[in-house]
Amino acid sequence: MKTQVGIVGAGPAGLVLSHLLAKTGIESVVLESQTRQYIEERVRAGVLEQGTVDLLNKLGLGERMMRQGLMHYGVELRFGGRGHRIDFAELTGGKGVMIYAQHEVIKDLVEARLAAGGEILFEAKEANVRGLDSEKPVIRFVRNGEVEQLECDFVAGCDGFHGVCRETIPVVKIYERDYPFGWLGILAEAPPASHELVYANHERGFALLSMRSPKISRLYVQCKPDEDLSEWPDARIWEELHKRLATRDEFKLTEGPVIQKGVTGMRSFVAEPMQYGRLFLAGDSAHIVPPTGAKGLNLAVADVRVLARGLKEFYASGNRELMQRYSEICLRRVWKVQRFSWWMTSMLHKFPEDSEFDRRRQMAELDYVTTSRAASTTLAENYVGLPMEKD
Ligand code: FAD
Ligand code: PHB
Repeated sequence: MKTQVGIVGAGPAGLVLSHLLAKTGIESVVLESQTRQYIEERVRAGVLEQGTVDLLNKLGLGERMMRQGLMHYGVELRFGGRGHRIDFAELTGGKGVMIYAQHEVIKDLVEARLAAGGEILFEAKEANVRGLDSEKPVIRFVRNGEVEQLECDFVAGCDGFHGVCRETIPVVKIYERDYPFGWLGILAEAPPASHELVYANHERGFALLSMRSPKISRLYVQCKPDEDLSEWPDARIWEELHKRLATRDEFKLTEGPVIQKGVTGMRSFVAEPMQYGRLFLAGDSAHIVPPTGAKGLNLAVADVRVLARGLKEFYASGNRELMQRYSEICLRRVWKVQRFSWWMTSMLHKFPEDSEFDRRRQMAELDYVTTSRAASTTLAENYVGLPMEKD
């Protein structure tokens, strides 16, 4: 098999890239190790930045998102028993975020790509990439028990944090930080108790109220990084959520049957550079952020926008300048998003080593962020998404 761009991984990065390339007439093949059903059901992120929403609409992929997604123009920060709204629209000139589940985005992208005759090869196992220094790199993989190979001009490593592409770069510098906690998340058949997301800092630990639809709540509590789910029967989760989200004016959390439960670890991770020879890493294969800023999916999309521009320029004129600066351009955004995600995480969680001094400082920070227009704007403009970097 031959193509222009071989894409490893059908997550948000790989699928958005295949659409962006198709729009400029560049051929690609996407290799995905899992089944279509698996990737369309995997519960993950839920918040799309304004720029991601606009891009999906521009690509003609936003029809269901605009019908079923929930556009939000603010979030609440809750601490000391009181809620404080950050008004995104007012602070960012009308921008907001879309609440629409990642697996719904995946469904829309897969369906549209296949309908347009695009190639996504599911259950393509044991991928390995060779010849990155040569003119024609090759991706070998196993499908239906047979070894196959895809010859291409470029390889996009969109295979997530546990993928294989990052390891094929001979010298990579890793920057990372682990956090001493995780998030225990549930999906519940319960109407969300607030119209907008609520990020709560409580003495017992962080809690987040989010949603997927007017009937489904998505809720998280800070827990141990290696938390054993069997120690968290539904009643304990609800009790903890009630305590951490409580307000002085008796906020009422709606309960309902829990339909999904899981623990997510928290880490910050960056691999530099994000390119080697004809391989370009995009999304979680190159970087991970803690979920407090709701940025992982959006950062993956931002990377492939840069990559698609570089490839377009190369195929149109042979000019490689943008491609050569891919890593440098992406990393400027990556580090700003790392900073924001770390800051939100530090401001909202309970750290085991924190002293009384740290606790007071954290409360002062929340007080400042919710009362100073300059500080609220900092949060708002990062949350709805910083502008794309200029080349
Ligand atoms: P992925 O979505 O990981 O896609 C990579 C794809 O590559 C996968 O489909 C995988 O099966 C495939 N693959 C892997 N290895 C190979 C291989 N060798 N060959 C072929 N295919 C391969 N972000 C937020 O913003 N908010 C959240 O609330 C949030 N919650 C999350 C919860 C969980 C449990 C996880 C794991 C992540 C969460 N994230 C969240 C992060 C967000 O989901 C990711 O940042 C986003 O999925 C990144 O997209 P990606 O395309 O780079 O990688
Ligand atoms: C979610 O709805 O899953 C969600 C929302 C906001 C976050 C993280 C996750 O910061």
